[in-house]
Amino acid sequence: MYSSEITQASNFVKGVDTTFLITLGVSFFFLIFLTVLMLVFIYKYNRKRNPKATQIEGSTSLEIVWTVIPLLLTLLMFYYGWAAYKPMTKAPDNAMEITVYGRMWNFMFEYENGKRTDTLYLPKDKPVKLNLVAMDVLHSLYIPAFRVKQDMVPGKENNFMWFEPQKEGIFELYCAEYCGLQHSYMYSYVKVIEDSAFQSWMVDTTQVVAEALESPTATGRRIMQNIGCFACHTIDGNKLVGPTFKGIWGATHTVTTGREKREVEVDEEYIRRSIYDPNADVVEGFNRGLMLSYEGQLSDEDVENIIEYLKTLN
Ligand code: CUA
Repeated sequence: MYSSEITQASNFVKGVDTTFLITLGVSFFFLIFLTVLMLVFIYKYNRKRNPKATQIEGSTSLEIVWTVIPLLLTLLMFYYGWAAYKPMTKAPDNAMEITVYGRMWNFMFEYENGKRTDTLYLPKDKPVKLNLVAMDVLHSLYIPAFRVKQDMVPGKENNFMWFEPQKEGIFELYCAEYCGLQHSYMYSYVKVIEDSAFQSWMVDTTQVVAEALESPTATGRRIMQNIGCFACHTIDGNKLVGPTFKGIWGATHTVTTGREKREVEVDEEYIRRSIYDPNADVVEGFNRGLMLSYEGQLSDEDVENIIEYLKTLN
């Protein structure tokens, strides 16, 4: 059920589209008007018809006309833009809050009850406030179908966007600010469902039960998928921004620790350190400072599951 129609998917669609069409209309009018006027002048006042140039001293009424009309048109465009923008700056008090974490290079959504996903699930016809947290560099959350886009600025307080989804369906969501090599990986979906379905999804424990039944390796893989590991690390031996995970367990890596070069064996301690303090040991041939610590985002149990999964890649 993929909705490609982009009309009225949120409460802001109408205001933004009206502003866009008015601005486009004014621009289009002037494009045609000026082009035609230019062609008329070229024809009427060319050298053959007017061998002698005429000196025009100025016209006050003409000056007034071409000052007042553009002023009114500019104010018209401003008015619609402002009217559409103003309501975006204040979220209703009853809005459901979701925290969006953006990092190089994925989004993670955290709900009021602590549930985390990599796809944004939303109830239809309920105001939603997204609190935006940029963990490393500038990102920008963009949901074209809802006509909302907001920069995610590291350290900025009160960085949010809000809207009310008004249509069920699946819509695209992506990062609209170039944030490094794998910027294009910051691509996900918004899934808008009926409020009742959303409520049961929120408290759904089948997922928790399914997770408990999952093998640690499957859990490890899912965790890594959700937090975006595979944006930078492959499991097939190809080199991306970070080293591949293929055959990593027990392998010997040449790393730079501080200024010293040394050989380390990949064991639990090394993997744990690479996740919590990624720049402590930098593998030869890769750059320092590209990975951010996952401290506070992953529990010890999560890391254990990740280690179990990595062991299977040999
Ligand atoms: Cu994040 Cu581009």
